[in-house]
Amino acid sequence: MRYSKIAGVGHYVPERVVTNDDLSKLMDTNNEWIIERTGIRERRFIDSKKDTVANMAAKATHMALERANLKVEDIDFIVLATITPDYFFPGSGVLLQRELGLESIGALDIRNACSGFIYALSTADQFIKTGMYKNILVIGAEIQSTALDLTTRGRGTAVIFGDGAGAVVLQPSEKPGILSSHLHSDGRYAEELYVKDPGSSRPHEERQPEQILDTSTFKVHMNGNMVFKHAVVRFHEVIMEALDANNLTKDDIDLLIPHQANLRISNYIQQKLGLPEEKLYNNIMRYGNTTAGSIPIAMSEAWGEGKIKDDDLICMAAFGSGFTWASSLIKW
Ligand code: UT7
Repeated sequence: MRYSKIAGVGHYVPERVVTNDDLSKLMDTNNEWIIERTGIRERRFIDSKKDTVANMAAKATHMALERANLKVEDIDFIVLATITPDYFFPGSGVLLQRELGLESIGALDIRNACSGFIYALSTADQFIKTGMYKNILVIGAEIQSTALDLTTRGRGTAVIFGDGAGAVVLQPSEKPGILSSHLHSDGRYAEELYVKDPGSSRPHEERQPEQILDTSTFKVHMNGNMVFKHAVVRFHEVIMEALDANNLTKDDIDLLIPHQANLRISNYIQQKLGLPEEKLYNNIMRYGNTTAGSIPIAMSEAWGEGKIKDDDLICMAAFGSGFTWASSLIKW
């Protein structure tokens, strides 16, 4: 049986640090509220003259390739997860392919928000298992800062998001590797966390940009309470689903890397599973919620800090817009 394994992991975050105090100059919020409700102390926002989804993804890729001892030319397919692409179309996968100077390899974009990286990894896993590709670049990259309402009206959402990118290279392996992935969605809740425009759902007579008088529909809308309540249930459920599918228990987990949505959500899951604190990896304090970027950025930092070792069992789980939620178990 052919499996896939992660050969290298890397990340990139923009240089510009935005603290809670910086945000409190733009809106009615404060450091204490943000830390107490989210755990976030600072996040990175892009420099719009320098950073794009594609070039942040390229920087994360170079780190992953170096750690995997591979060259750019070794990559034979790209799967890029983002809900904040550089253009409405084409997707940022092709822009990354161009940025890397790769000539004509395929590039697939995945739009599953906070669960995007696990959806992307699972998709790449299938291509490796069938023998179609040998070195797949899997990326989660996001620029949320430009879609946030950075005024008091948007404070419930604006304080949690940040920008950044993470990348892994997936390769065939004789032994796992990725043990399994579990992907879910429930579109009944699509409008609880979404950006409406530029969408194609408007009636024909409202389609022209100059006819849209209320531009708040171009910003992130989130019903935070509702998302939170679903997240804590689904995170636990999908982690247990992964463990059960592999006849494992929570005691077998060496490191849980949850999507960095809110420190309170991560801590709740850790406590519900009864995992010791050192088996949970969090970096939301420094980067906020970087949507599809959050899991690979966290994985890259954890690996860099020596918290992921060969043969460790790594559990990843995510929940977000859609709603979508997902988990994946990896024997490193
Ligand atoms: O990654 C995708 C998935 N996303 C998530 O998982 C996010 C899930 N949701 C959350 O993390 C939380 O719901 C938030 C952090 C977004 C909000 O925290 P909360 O504890 O649910 O706060 P709330 O929305 O219930 O608001 C509580 C109070 C309100 O004031 P009143 O009505 O009690 O007087 C808000 O107006 O806090 C107020 N508030 C703020 N105050 C200061 C909301 N945002 C802010 C703010 N600064 N930034």
